[in-house]
Amino acid sequence: MNDSELLFYNEYEQFYKMTGESKAFAAFCRDAFGQDFSQDGFSDVKQIDRILKYIPDGPDTHILDIGCGNGKMLGYLQERTNAFIHGFDYSGNAILAAQKAFPNRSEFRQGRIGEIDYHAEQFDLVVSMDSMYFAPDMEAFVRQILTWLKKDGVLFVGYQEGDVMPKTENVKTTVLAEAFDRCGIRYEAEDITRETYDLLSGKRLAALKHQKNFEAEGNREWFDLLMLQTDCVTEPFEQFSRKMARYIYVVRKG
Ligand SMILES: C[S@@+](CC[C@H](N)C(=O)[O-])C[C@H]1O[C@@H](n2cnc3c(N)ncnc32)[C@H](O)[C@@H]1O
Repeated sequence: MNDSELLFYNEYEQFYKMTGESKAFAAFCRDAFGQDFSQDGFSDVKQIDRILKYIPDGPDTHILDIGCGNGKMLGYLQERTNAFIHGFDYSGNAILAAQKAFPNRSEFRQGRIGEIDYHAEQFDLVVSMDSMYFAPDMEAFVRQILTWLKKDGVLFVGYQEGDVMPKTENVKTTVLAEAFDRCGIRYEAEDITRETYDLLSGKRLAALKHQKNFEAEGNREWFDLLMLQTDCVTEPFEQFSRKMARYIYVVRKG
């Protein structure tokens, strides 16, 4: 399979081209998520700040973001902790932007989940926000991530259901949780579905606020996509939560 045949590959190339140019999208992100990380996911700065406590102090701290996009979230974490930042993503446009924006104490690589590899015990923290879904073999991928972690290192995952992944019963029945179980990996999980409903409601309002700016830039199609992505919050929470869920998983390598 070549890159362009991968799920959403062309869409992400277009997305990261747009985020590099659009002032409307940057302003939308700041309003919707509290910070502009060029989010194509469901994570605001409140979720990202939960990661900080898993980043140890010290000059030799290395953190990895899987599906890092243009690296802005890693840049934010580096600003707060001075960690060495590593990221990979299959989007060439995203990786070029990351390399340009964050040249210090960093390594950004273009590559696909399942193919790209790192040294054993290289990272104190591996984070993946809304990107584990693209693993061709979830069980093999979580085993691989665990080898990349140092002893006591942490894997932190933001994971949505009802979007790319099917909605399952609860936090223990997701494709990711079942892969952890099959690998004998213990995890802690937090259900943040209610918080996500509120976040998506804010995302819809922020998109509407910037509609005219999207249109003035010739980016009406991205505004339409934001409307489509947030259509789910036009229903009350009870209905939303039957179709969608969001969890944070934390694994500590023993
Ligand atoms: C839903 S976005 C999340 C991006 C970012 N982490 C965030 O929270 O906004 C998924 C990211 O994974 C990347 N991606 C998708 N499939 C991939 C794959 N097979 N290998 C590597 N990266 C992939 C996309 O380019 C995109 O940056």
